Amino acid sequence: SACITLDNGFGNTGSCESAITFLNGEKGILHYRGYPIEQLAEKSVFQEVAYLLYYGELPSQSELNLFKQKVASYSSLPQGIYNIIDQFPLEAHPMGVVSAAVSALSAFYPEFINPTSLSQADIDRAIAQLMGQIKIIIAYFFRRTQSQAPVPSDPSLIYAADFLNMLQGGEGNPIDPEVADALDTLLILHADHEQNCSTSTVRVIGSSKANIFATVSGGIDALWGQLHGGANQAVLEMLNEIQNNGGDYQKYLHKAKDKNDPFRLMGFGHRVYKNFDPRAKIIKNACDSVLQKLGIHDPLLDIARGLEEQALKDPYFIERHLYPNVDFYSGIIYQALGIPANMFTTMFAMGRMPGWLSQWKEMRASEATRIARPRQVYIGATARDYVAINQR
Ligand code: CMC
Repeated sequence: SACITLDNGFGNTGSCESAITFLNGEKGILHYRGYPIEQLAEKSVFQEVAYLLYYGELPSQSELNLFKQKVASYSSLPQGIYNIIDQFPLEAHPMGVVSAAVSALSAFYPEFINPTSLSQADIDRAIAQLMGQIKIIIAYFFRRTQSQAPVPSDPSLIYAADFLNMLQGGEGNPIDPEVADALDTLLILHADHEQNCSTSTVRVIGSSKANIFATVSGGIDALWGQLHGGANQAVLEMLNEIQNNGGDYQKYLHKAKDKNDPFRLMGFGHRVYKNFDPRAKIIKNACDSVLQKLGIHDPLLDIARGLEEQALKDPYFIERHLYPNVDFYSGIIYQALGIPANMFTTMFAMGRMPGWLSQWKEMRASEATRIARPRQVYIGATARDYVAINQR
């Protein structure tokens, strides 16, 4: 193994060629298919961005309509999936429920099990299906935890509005379109991020030719961790803890800098962004306007702003290029929308779905794709002889 180069956490390993997302960490640039994230966040809607990521071009109006129709045709789940979700304890973490339900879809759509036999039309159907059904899975489980009957999907709404309506709406309880637009923007910001942990997981699993549902379910599991998508929940819990301890965020900055303390400032730092996370900038502004629109004064926002301001002045954070990332302010917005903290990472999963599926499609189409099989640098015992158990 002398010729194997060690690269912990794959910080310097190009695992594939990709034409989907461009990221420049020094300059804080993020493009989907060449389009700057700032323009997409301002002007586009989530399903249009999903189409762009997946097919490579912005859709015409009729292409977008057709795509929406296809997604809308998956506005319910097989009865067996509802039954499976019904078996989960109400206090189950929603990410585990969503991952399990997505994996279980393979049992109900056996035609997708063997990915080598899928036509292009089948693959297109898979993206529409997973985009359509993930929001049903999340909303159905959430309504159950609230002891409320499910609200059916309404395909006339934009994706985020339909989702919020299924979560909180229904008869006599319309969703504020501006609030839904804010959630739609968040979904756009989460839609893809090149070879991050969950997307790499999707590519690794997919490279073995596991089925699409197992593959995406693995991506959901990778996203759950608090260093990745789970950071959005962890940030809110951290802010709450600071508030409950009298709001002394200086103490938490010290903890984060203390190398003997495992505590990290959640929502800070990024493997690739070393000057700022362009998504965090957009989210911070969205956070201000959503709270203003809803007339909410959230003391957690003051704590978050204070933490950010202090950290950005602190040599520890400056030297290590640690800035707020996409997860730092998103939780405050979700909370303002009435979404409980343990649901936050499912919002991220819903947003990342088009990215996972686009990367999966690209991986399948590339002739360069081989099964992912990293090597190691062996540091264990050298060869030795077996010792009988009575002689140890
Ligand atoms: N708080 C305190 N110190 C930190 C933090 C932080 N949040 N992040 C990194 N550091 C320090 C780290 O201790 C190390 O210091 P030293 O050089 O003295 O040993 C240095 O900065 C480099 O850190 P690293 O762990 O080598 O960096 P990485 O690229 O492996 O990890 C990260 C990136 C995002 C996992 C990490 O910054 C982190 O744990 N952040 C907190 C969790 C978080 O917010 N995750 C969301 C990431 S963005 C969206 C997403 O992927 O979902």
